[in-house]
Amino acid sequence: MTDHMDTDKTVSIPRHVSIIMDGNGRWAKERGKERVFGHAEGVESVRACVEAAAEAGVKYLSVFAFSEENWNRPSAEVGYLMQLMRKVIEGEVDSLAERRIRLLVRGHLDRLGPDLAADIRRAEQRTVPADGGEPLMTLVVFLSYSGKWDILQAARKFAAAAVHQPALLEEASEADFARFLVTADLPDPDLVIRTSGEQRISNYLLWQAAYAEFLFVDKMWPDFRKDDFRAALAAYANRDRRYGKVK
Ligand code: IPE
Ligand code: IPE
Ligand code: MG
Repeated sequence: MTDHMDTDKTVSIPRHVSIIMDGNGRWAKERGKERVFGHAEGVESVRACVEAAAEAGVKYLSVFAFSEENWNRPSAEVGYLMQLMRKVIEGEVDSLAERRIRLLVRGHLDRLGPDLAADIRRAEQRTVPADGGEPLMTLVVFLSYSGKWDILQAARKFAAAAVHQPALLEEASEADFARFLVTADLPDPDLVIRTSGEQRISNYLLWQAAYAEFLFVDKMWPDFRKDDFRAALAAYANRDRRYGKVK
């Protein structure tokens, strides 16, 4: 009986929710402020969604924090975002560890400065449950990430592995290839939410979101809080995932 109820819950609660956090700049401009105010306020929305996700029993929450393309923004904004990232990671890591929330940061991290990269590695280590048990939830921050970059770096590693394992070239399955993506140890997203009214994927998890449900919401990211996250879960529960089959 309990088993049956658990099964029902796993169907309606997405295992992995991913968010394209968009609209920080517009949120700030609408208030007559500089774009960076929107980024700072957006951190509050991340906190709120982490709480809401953990409370709802979501096992993986991922957020798109900075894309490969975002490096092309004015250097002052890029610098601000990297500083903010460092400050937030440093400020949040203890609280995450206490709540058994594991932090992972994924992306083209070679492009980050050595200080930020070192902070990230330390924070990831710090949030590994000390008792060796499962975390309550895993929070993945996609930083300096793009979907095409991920697929290309995977293809390079795949090719290198095939030198020693020629059978890979003939026989590799999709799962064999996916082991080279930076998300190899993560489930694919079930639900991808994008805020700010834009309806595009912006080079995010191209491979991994192949069968994700998408939810586009008009609110700017700094306005997206717990109730909005819960509403997104409710919308997901009403979706009918068919995976190409007939029901
Ligand atoms: C999302 O907000 C944050 C990042 C992409 C880093 P934006 O900065 O894209 O804000 P808008 O879309 O210009 O309003
Ligand atoms: C997507 O937002 C990237 C992140 C949320 C980190 P952008 O604001 O960079 O996307 P575009 O430029 O509107 O497609
Ligand atoms: Mg944007």
